[in-house]
Amino acid sequence: MIKIDKAVSSPGKIESMSLSQDDTFRFADILAQFLYPGVIVALFGRLGSGKTALVKGFCHGLGVQEEVTSPSYTIMNIYKGRLPVYHFDFYRLYQNTDWNELGLDEYLFGEGVSFIEWPDRLGNWLPGESVEITIQRLRPYTEANVDHRKIMVKNLKGADLLQHSDNGIIAKI
Ligand SMILES: Nc1ncnc2c1ncn2[C@@H]1O[C@H](COP(=O)(O)OP(=O)(O)O)[C@@H](O)[C@H]1O
Ligand SMILES: [Mg+2]
Repeated sequence: MIKIDKAVSSPGKIESMSLSQDDTFRFADILAQFLYPGVIVALFGRLGSGKTALVKGFCHGLGVQEEVTSPSYTIMNIYKGRLPVYHFDFYRLYQNTDWNELGLDEYLFGEGVSFIEWPDRLGNWLPGESVEITIQRLRPYTEANVDHRKIMVKNLKGADLLQHSDNGIIAKI
């Protein structure tokens, strides 16, 4: 079950609670319909918070058939969906890495969708118009069966138009 946590307060903004990895997957799967060529999705959150889980859901929604794995060692994975998908994990880069030097132009400003884990590594090089998603593990997470995540999405045009019923479940438009 995917629940909208709060009423949407500004265009492109949505907040949701995820009670399982499956919820996180389905949330991104639904949001994938709002992605468009050239969009950059910056994924903020600590190690193990669920950034890669979100990308798996997004890829499913974008029609990617291949298995999606974490690019933590490869830095980048490329997939084919209804749009090309570039999945980056910059955890191992230094702060304020220049994306020019990494040769990212052709990906970040091409026709595909870019997902970036650890976007803060790009510092000022992160394009300002990016969609920002923050996923946060909620305390107390030492208790068994309590592994909830809060997911906040900013700047995703159209996402705030998702219909939600009285019990807060969002539906595919
Ligand atoms: N609600 C949830 N949403 C996403 N992941 C969850 C959730 N609850 C538990 N998990 C677990 O947390 C881990 C998240 O891993 P991952 O997506 O690789 O994190 P990150 O990419 O942020 O480092 C997985 O092992 C997953 O099973
Ligand atoms: Mg990851």
